[in-house]
Amino acid sequence: MFILPAKALKGNIALPGDKSISHRAALLSAMAVGVTRIDNFATSADCASTLECLERLGVEIGRDGPTVTVHGSGKTGFRQAEGHLDCGNSGTTMRLLAGILAGQGIESVLTGDDSLRSRPMQRVIKPLTAMGAAIGSENGRAPLAIHGSKSLRAMAYRPEVASAQIKSCILLAGLNAKGETSLIEEVPTRDHTERMLRWLGVDVRETRDEDATKISVSGDSVLTAKDLTVPADISAAAFFMVAAACLPGSQIEIRNVGLNPTRSAIIEVLSRNFGAAIDISEQHELNNEPVGTMSVRGGLLPQQSNQIKGRMVSELIDEIPVLAVFGTQLEGGLEVRDATELRVKESDRIAAVVENLKRMGADVEEFHDGFLVRKSQLRGARVDSFGDHRIAMAFAVAGLLAEGETEIPGAECAAVSFPGFFEVLQNAIVYQ
Ligand code: S3P
Repeated sequence: MFILPAKALKGNIALPGDKSISHRAALLSAMAVGVTRIDNFATSADCASTLECLERLGVEIGRDGPTVTVHGSGKTGFRQAEGHLDCGNSGTTMRLLAGILAGQGIESVLTGDDSLRSRPMQRVIKPLTAMGAAIGSENGRAPLAIHGSKSLRAMAYRPEVASAQIKSCILLAGLNAKGETSLIEEVPTRDHTERMLRWLGVDVRETRDEDATKISVSGDSVLTAKDLTVPADISAAAFFMVAAACLPGSQIEIRNVGLNPTRSAIIEVLSRNFGAAIDISEQHELNNEPVGTMSVRGGLLPQQSNQIKGRMVSELIDEIPVLAVFGTQLEGGLEVRDATELRVKESDRIAAVVENLKRMGADVEEFHDGFLVRKSQLRGARVDSFGDHRIAMAFAVAGLLAEGETEIPGAECAAVSFPGFFEVLQNAIVYQ
C-alpha cells in the first residue's frame, strides 16, 4: 500500500463492529439457551476465526452480511471437533475459548498462525489447570491440547498481568465450575464480558476494596439468548481520530461508536491532554454498552501531559501504536512506559513502532517497557507492517502526516480487525 500526504480528513466514517464485543457476542450466545441475532457483527478476520471454531464445535451459525444468528448449545453442549481449532491471529479467540473448553467433557486442540503460536498462554493454562482442566502445551505456547472437565473447581484468582482476556477466560470457565469463581482485578481492563453476561441474565457480582475489584460468577448461572447489536469499534476509530486531530481543516463524524469507559480513554487523552476538538452526542445504550456519535475537528492545543504510564496503559493498550505516531506531532513529544505487554501482542509493538518511526526520520528512543518519541517531521519511507494489523494502520496515518510517499508492504493484514480500512481512509482523504 502506498500512502501520500493528506491535507485533511472529511466526512462520515463507517467502521466495522467492535472486535472485542463481537468475539464475546458469538462465544456467549453459543453458551446460551435459545437463538441470538447479532447485528453489526465485526467483519474482521479475527471474529471470523471465532465463528469457525464454534461451528467446528457443533454450534449452528447463520450469516447474512454483518448479521449473525447463533443457535446456542447451552453451557456444556459443545461437540468434540475433528482436528485442530484454528484461532488464526486471534489471541481473544484462543484465550476465551480455552476458558469455555476447560469446562466441556471433550478434548480440543487450539492452534493459530505463527504470531499466535509465539504468544504467552501460560497466563490461562495456569488458572485453568488449577480449576481442574488438563492442558498440554510446549513452553506455555499454542497448540494447546485441552482435556476438559465436567467438574471444574471454582476459585478466586488474582492474575499477574492486567488482561481482559485472562479475566474473561476465568469467568467463562467459572460458569461451568462448582461454586463461585472470582477474578480479582487490580487494574481495570475492558469489561465487555461482564456487561454481556448481565445482558444474557447472569448475575455478575462486583465488590471493591481500595486496591482491587472482585468480579464473581456462579457455576449455576444460566445464559438466556437475547439479541445483540455490536457498536462501531472505537479502536478502529482511533486511527481516524488521530489523523483528523493532526490535520487542520479536518471534520469527521462516526456514528454508534462504542463509548465504554474501559475503552474510551483515547477520547480523554486526545481531547483533555492535547486539546483535540472531539464532540460526543446522541449518547445511548446498546445491550448494556454505551454508544454515541463522535465528531472530530482538526487542530491541537499545547498539551498538559506527554506521558502514558501506569493504569493508563491498559486503558489504551490497542491505541498505543497510533499514539506513537501522534507523538511525532506534539510539541513535547510522547513518552510511553509500563507497557511491556505491548511486546507480546500480534507483534512486538514497541520494537515495531520504534523501527518504523526511525525509518520515517523520527527522533525516537526505545525502552524495555516503552518508548519516547520527540516532535519530528516525518518523511515518507518503506516501513514494515510486521504482519500486525494495528502497525499497518498506524503507519498509514503516519504516511498522511509525512512528506513524500510511504510504502507499507503486507498492509493487507489490516483485515485482521478492519477489512476495507484503506478504502474507508481513501474516501475520507482531502489531498494538498
Ligand atoms: C482484548 C484484550 C486486550 C487487547 C486485545 C483484545 C479482548 O488484550 O489488547 O486486542 O478482547 O479482551 P489483553 O487482555 O491481552 O490485554
